[in-house]
Amino acid sequence: MEYSAPPNVLMELLIVPDKILMGPGPSNCPKRVLEALKNPVLGHLHPECLKIMDDIKVGMQYIFQTKNPATLCVSASGHAGMEATLCNLLEDGDILLVGVTGHWGNRAADMGRRYGADVRVVEAKLGESLSFERIEEALVVHKPSVFFITQGDSSTGVWQPLEGLGQLCHKYNCLLVVDTVASLGGVPVFMDKWEIDAIYTGSQKVLGAPPGITPMSFSQRALDRVNNRNSKVKVYYWDINLLGDYWGCFGRPRIYHHTISSTLLYGLREALAMVCEEGIPVTIQRHMDASYRLQEGLKKMGLKMFAERPQDRLPCVNTIHVPEGVDWLKVAQHAMKHFKVEISGGLGPTAGKVFRIGLMGENATTERVDMVLYVLKESIQSTSPNFSFEKSKM
Ligand code: GLV
Repeated sequence: MEYSAPPNVLMELLIVPDKILMGPGPSNCPKRVLEALKNPVLGHLHPECLKIMDDIKVGMQYIFQTKNPATLCVSASGHAGMEATLCNLLEDGDILLVGVTGHWGNRAADMGRRYGADVRVVEAKLGESLSFERIEEALVVHKPSVFFITQGDSSTGVWQPLEGLGQLCHKYNCLLVVDTVASLGGVPVFMDKWEIDAIYTGSQKVLGAPPGITPMSFSQRALDRVNNRNSKVKVYYWDINLLGDYWGCFGRPRIYHHTISSTLLYGLREALAMVCEEGIPVTIQRHMDASYRLQEGLKKMGLKMFAERPQDRLPCVNTIHVPEGVDWLKVAQHAMKHFKVEISGGLGPTAGKVFRIGLMGENATTERVDMVLYVLKESIQSTSPNFSFEKSKM
């Protein structure tokens, strides 16, 4: 048998450009994280690898503000947190109530249906968070066993308040699942005090690690629900008991579940170390300050935030109305071509309507904000001959 020829493209050098990632994520990894990724690969049950997993566990317990032993990572991107929480907590016919504040609520509703749930929805006005009154009404009407909500929806740039929501859900015998992919580290999260039952985040946003590994945590209430299921968790890969046994969460001997990427563990471990060294309150304040400065700069330019009410604005992903006479795609392409800066367009319900500027991790600084304001302005001026900043201020 003759082999076909190897592909020519793989005979070329790998060239990866250096870009400033100021879209909704991933954000740039700090040098320390990139350096950590160069370490030798370890086996997934080697003691040094297990020690790094333990370091990550305590780091995530701090950042989620939880004492949950079932705090671990799934080996996949942020989406996997949504898959894993819903897959473990839902059985056929269970009622899942989804609070929709943008694209990610719609995605959770889709996933819930795939896991056999009877999905109901309570939807916010586009660009606003949901009031607890609306959520309570929906809990009373639908009697769900699980309520899902996104703390920071990266498509709309909406920040959903959570304090007291766990207590409200528990009054109706309902578990609370929270997506903090685009919010954790940029706004406060108190998993235990707010009685959140299952939570997950993205490694590649505020934390500044590469994508591909997703921290999450389950409360005892959530574990009890899983342990009282009538049917097996439908996906082996997401099964919290199997994952927990690999991550050493339940005081039992570690059992092989899958081959974790030790490389991604190194990156995440160093990213968490940096957040721990800075201290989470300082990290959050830095993100708040950066967003405030961005919003002030945009206001001076006559541009308007998509989330009208200031209290609804997520500091990590800022959504800005695309003004009349401006083509968002040309602006984004210009910014990339001339400045190597990523500015993103909308997603789902905001597609074509907004710019999205991410201020996450090492990009949440005064210098980066001033730079992205300059790049946005210059890119609009260069690509939109019929648009006038002076007129837009009137
Ligand atoms: C991804 O997280 C996005 O918001 O585009």
